Amino acid sequence: MEHYDYLVVGSGLFGATFAYEAAKRGKKVKVIEKRDHIAGNIYTKEVDGIQVHQYGAHIFHTSNKDIWDYVNQFAEFNRYTNSPVANYHGEIYNMPFNMNTFNKMWGVVTPAEAEKKIESQRMEMNGKKPQNLEEQAISLIGRDIYEKLVKGYTEKQWGQAATDLPAFIIRRLPVRLTYDNNYFNDIYQGIPIGGYTQIVEKMLSSELISVETNTDFFEKKDEYVATYPKIVFTGMIDQFFEYKLGELQYRSLKFETEELDIDNYQGNAVVNYTDAQTPYTRVIEHKHFEFGKGDKNKTIITREYPQEWHRGDEPYYPVNNSENDKLYKEYRKLADEVPNVIFGGRLGQYRYYDMHQVIHAALTVVSQEFSEK
Ligand code: FDA
Repeated sequence: MEHYDYLVVGSGLFGATFAYEAAKRGKKVKVIEKRDHIAGNIYTKEVDGIQVHQYGAHIFHTSNKDIWDYVNQFAEFNRYTNSPVANYHGEIYNMPFNMNTFNKMWGVVTPAEAEKKIESQRMEMNGKKPQNLEEQAISLIGRDIYEKLVKGYTEKQWGQAATDLPAFIIRRLPVRLTYDNNYFNDIYQGIPIGGYTQIVEKMLSSELISVETNTDFFEKKDEYVATYPKIVFTGMIDQFFEYKLGELQYRSLKFETEELDIDNYQGNAVVNYTDAQTPYTRVIEHKHFEFGKGDKNKTIITREYPQEWHRGDEPYYPVNNSENDKLYKEYRKLADEVPNVIFGGRLGQYRYYDMHQVIHAALTVVSQEFSEK
C-alpha cells in the first residue's frame, strides 16, 4: 500500500482545511468520505443554473479578517446579507427582532416607543424566575413576540412543548432597536459565487491528496487504525468509541427539495414558518442566495423538517445541554488515550460550529500538529 502521513475521515470543511494545510507542508494525505460527494454539509450542487444548498442554508459570516481572507483564497464571495423573514399564518415579520418587526407587531415607530412596549410586555413575569423556555422567552421579549415568532418555531425545532423545554436554551433573544434587517452582526458576510463545493474541491486538489468517496471509516476501522500513522477523524466521537459510554444526543433534519416552473416563489432566500401547524421550520429558495441567477422559468425550494435523531440518521446538530456536554467530556478522556487520532469538526468535537469557526478550529489544530506556535 502507498504510504500516507495522514488519513482524514470526512471531507467537510474541517477535514478539507486540515488536508490542504498538511499537503502544503509536503505531507501525503488520504481523505475518505462516506457520502458520494465531498464538502460535507456545505455541499452545493448546480441545478437549472442555481446553486442548491443541499444541507440547508449556508451563509458565511465572520468578523475575523484572517479567516475571511483565508476562505477568499478559494472562492469569490458576493455581498449576500442574510435577512430572513418570518411567516406567521401569512403575516410577515422581519428577523432578527428589530424596529420593522416592532412596527408591524405594535405600530410603534421610535426606538423609545418600542422599548417601552417591550418593557410593558415583560412585566407579565412580575419578577418571577423563569422555570421553562416559555417563561424565559416572555421574560426577555414579552408574550406577543413569543407567541407569534418564537413558540411554534422552537417547539418544531426541539420536538417538545416550550413549557417542557429548559429555560437555558434561550439565554438571550437578540433585540435590535434599528430598522436593520441584517441577521448577523459580523463585519464580513457573503455566499461564494458558484457555490461552496468549489472551496473544498480546491482545498483537496493537491497531488499529495487522494480522495475516496462512498467509503465509511467504520467498515475497516481496525485496518485504518493499524495502517495510518495519524488519523484526523471528523465523524461522531461517540460512534468512534462504539457508543461505549452511551449516545450523545443530536438533532436531525429532513430536507424536501422541489423544482417549480416559476421564477420566484417567495421573494427571499430564507422564510421561517413560526406557527405550530406548518410542519416545516423553514423554506429556502436557493436562487436568491445569488440574486436570482439561474433559469428564469424555474426555481428550487427546500423545506426543512426538524427530526429526532436515531442511530443511522444524519446528525446535523449536537444538543449541547449540560448532560451531553458532561458525556462528551468523558469521551474526550477516551480520545486522549488515542494520541494518534485527532478529533475535529462539528461531530468530532461535539460543538455547534459555524463555518468560520470550523476553519479556525482546523487551523488551530494544524499549528499544534506542525508545532508552529
Ligand atoms: P461536516 O458534517 O460538514 O463534515 C463531516 C464529514 O464527515 C461529512 O461529509 C460526513 O459524511 C463525513 N463522515 C462522517 N462520518 C464518517 C465516517 N464514518 N466515514 C467517512 N466519512 C464520514 N454555518 C455557517 O457558518 N453559516 C450557516 O448559515 C450555516 N448553516 C447551517 C445550516 C444547517 C442546516 C447545518 C446543519 C449547518 C449549518 N452551518 C452553517 C454549519 C456548517 O455546516 C458547519 O460549520 C460545517 O459544515 C462543519 O464542517 P465539519 O467538517 O465539521 O462537518
